[in-house]
Amino acid sequence: MPDSPPKLAFVMVGLPARGKTFIARKIARYLSWLGYRTQVFNVGSYRRERHGSRQHHSFFDPRNDAGQAARRDVALAALDDMLAFLKEGGDIAMYDATNNTRERRNLVRARCEAEGLSVVFVESICNDPAIVEANIRANKARSPDYEGVPEEEAVRDFRQRIAHYQSAYEEVSEAEGPFVKIIDVGRTLVLHRVAGYLLARVVHFLLNLHVQPRSVRLTRHGESEFNVLGRIGGDSPLSEAGRGYARTLASVLRARGGEDFVVWTSTLRRTIETAEVIGLPYRAWRALDEIDAGVCDGMTYDEIAETMPHEYEARQADKFRYRYPRGESYQDVIQRLEPVIFELERERRPVLIIGHQAVLRALYAYMMDRPPNECPFVSIPLHTILELEPTAYGCDERRIELPPAPLDPEGFRQSP
Ligand code: F6P
Repeated sequence: MPDSPPKLAFVMVGLPARGKTFIARKIARYLSWLGYRTQVFNVGSYRRERHGSRQHHSFFDPRNDAGQAARRDVALAALDDMLAFLKEGGDIAMYDATNNTRERRNLVRARCEAEGLSVVFVESICNDPAIVEANIRANKARSPDYEGVPEEEAVRDFRQRIAHYQSAYEEVSEAEGPFVKIIDVGRTLVLHRVAGYLLARVVHFLLNLHVQPRSVRLTRHGESEFNVLGRIGGDSPLSEAGRGYARTLASVLRARGGEDFVVWTSTLRRTIETAEVIGLPYRAWRALDEIDAGVCDGMTYDEIAETMPHEYEARQADKFRYRYPRGESYQDVIQRLEPVIFELERERRPVLIIGHQAVLRALYAYMMDRPPNECPFVSIPLHTILELEPTAYGCDERRIELPPAPLDPEGFRQSP
């Protein structure tokens, strides 16, 4: 993370059902994972909290003065909280609302600039009726705004709500400062005055986003000879049990997912030997190699504690930031995994990553939106598949523990 974090507000813009919340949360998850204190301020949740969740579409009509006043109040309440968050140590905030008029955006920008914060508008424009319709049906009609309302009625009301916003909508113009326009879910990206390292990364990230659901499976390699000896790092081959796991993994994957998935490994023997048994083409990434234990590579934890007690204690004290002498920290691992994350976002087929404990912890923290400093403590046991299914705003997880010996594919145990 940079020494002086940027203090930045991303202000979302767009009609309802244009994926603003999806984009805001994705950016937030990515930036938190990189170590920036990031938070999303969703004006819709403030509205539901203060005015209840069931609001007729007329509440959103710009000619409805009471509705306008109520909406302005909740927008300002969210804005106040966002400014307080940035003042009190937050780095980056996402202001998630329609912000569909220039007047509203000017107000938000003026308040931010008065606090010395930079503002970037992120406008999602979608003119493809099929995408909007799919979004309305998949997310909006099932949102808390329409709990208990029959789907068709919810869809009808929501379309009218969109029409109200449309009647007052003004696109972001160049006079309003830096912006990113995402058109038709990333088919086109338009940038204006977007400069600097952090914004370039966010844009790069956005270039890879898509909304097609697909699973990501994570597994460690089969048990290695170093695992048996309790030694860290190294480049040892699989043990007998590890080879058994590779065979079981291969048959389970064949039974479940057919052959339509991508396999990624590290460049280390133990992951490649595991992948070879699956028999599908695989891509070996250097970025997926295990955390570099530097001078401790090949040692057991007891040997480190005995011969380098200071190092051992320093790691115990701050496992996330601790960097092995001439090696890496978890923080370093996260930085080098960034290209993997971009590729993971871009890929539309299911992905199987055969990796290592520390690296998979970091990827897991990204997928599950867990604070990065928790990642050194995530449990990623050997001989277990973690099936992660991204949902609209999060990710479902299922763990499948496999015995290390070849088995009938139906014979594996699944955790709840
Ligand atoms: O022990 C297996 C291993 O993959 C080592 O190569 C690596 O150093 C270690 O796990 C990472 O786990 P931790 O950060 O808990 O030491």
